[in-house]
Amino acid sequence: MRALATIDRAALAHNLERVRALAPDRAVYAAVKADGYGHGATTVANALAAADGFAVSSLDEAMQLRWSGITQPIMTLSQPLDVDACALAAAHDVRPVVFDRTHLTALADYVGPVLSVWIKLDSGMHRLGFAPGEAAAVAAHLRALRHVRCVGWLTHLGCADDPSNPMTERQLAAFAHGTAELDGQRSIANSAGVLAWPAAHADVVRPGIMLYGSSPMVDATAADHDLRPAMHLTAPIISRRRVVAGEPIGYGATWRAPEDMDVGVIGIGYGDGYPRHAPSGTPVLVRGLRAALVGRVSMDMITVDLRAVPEAGVGERVTLWGPGLPADEVAAAAGTIAYELFCRLTARVSVEIV
Ligand SMILES: Cc1ncc(COP(=O)(O)O)c(C=O)c1O
Repeated sequence: MRALATIDRAALAHNLERVRALAPDRAVYAAVKADGYGHGATTVANALAAADGFAVSSLDEAMQLRWSGITQPIMTLSQPLDVDACALAAAHDVRPVVFDRTHLTALADYVGPVLSVWIKLDSGMHRLGFAPGEAAAVAAHLRALRHVRCVGWLTHLGCADDPSNPMTERQLAAFAHGTAELDGQRSIANSAGVLAWPAAHADVVRPGIMLYGSSPMVDATAADHDLRPAMHLTAPIISRRRVVAGEPIGYGATWRAPEDMDVGVIGIGYGDGYPRHAPSGTPVLVRGLRAALVGRVSMDMITVDLRAVPEAGVGERVTLWGPGLPADEVAAAAGTIAYELFCRLTARVSVEIV
């Protein structure tokens, strides 16, 4: 087998417990959009059976969960709403987030079983949602509709990953002000909100990345928060070679051996979702020891400096990220975030669920 992502259900359940410990007595809607951040939405939702609900991007993602037997409430965070979408959502108790004027028109035209919705306010991130000052008018519009029920109010934090950034306080104040006189539940916190902003816990938290065992914070690692990696990505050494001092490795000859040395060729590349822009020096774990990527990432292969692990041989599996090598560290080396590493794994990667 070449690249293999092993998904650890116990790690997912443990990370949910961490959310519960940090935000006791709050409902937890686990973010499982983008196929459970690349871990498999159904696998994750089943491992997180104790979650109170799920948050996905679209109705398609919600329906995938319903078809696999998930019964908890599901909210769709970025689904465009027309009358047909309203009918499908209502039929399957999927709760769309209303964030655009066009949704108000669709909801007014919708006739059918009562559709529960969340309303999103833009408290300062300026991506989605109504201005806090419009909240009362939107609530009044929905109250007049017989087939629509507003469950609650939602906003999203843009800078909660940085505890020193004053924007979060401003967002919390804007949201509190906009919803002060209105009925319904409140939901604000993503993982960073859960980890660093107790004032954002409100009624429903919506963690994603921390459930997968990564840290969104600029100042704390996943281990600092006792989060466990839910994915272990491995691939085999497919060849071990001796490279003479001064000789280049890989496309573009971007790296040259500083001495006569052994390198391992690993059976994973950007065709599997390993980041092509990962530079020489990006860590890989071989026999539990740190080794460095050398040369460019190819479609099917990477090369690794084996000087620190002389015994490692063909067929042995190395860790690209997972236990002992946080995806956050690999992501930082590659100039991205663990979210993207997880989401970009391709269908070629085999999946094992433990
Ligand atoms: C609206 C909303 N809520 C919650 C989340 C979960 O965020 P995180 O994975 O940072 O916890 C996201 C993710 O992007 C989101 O867009």
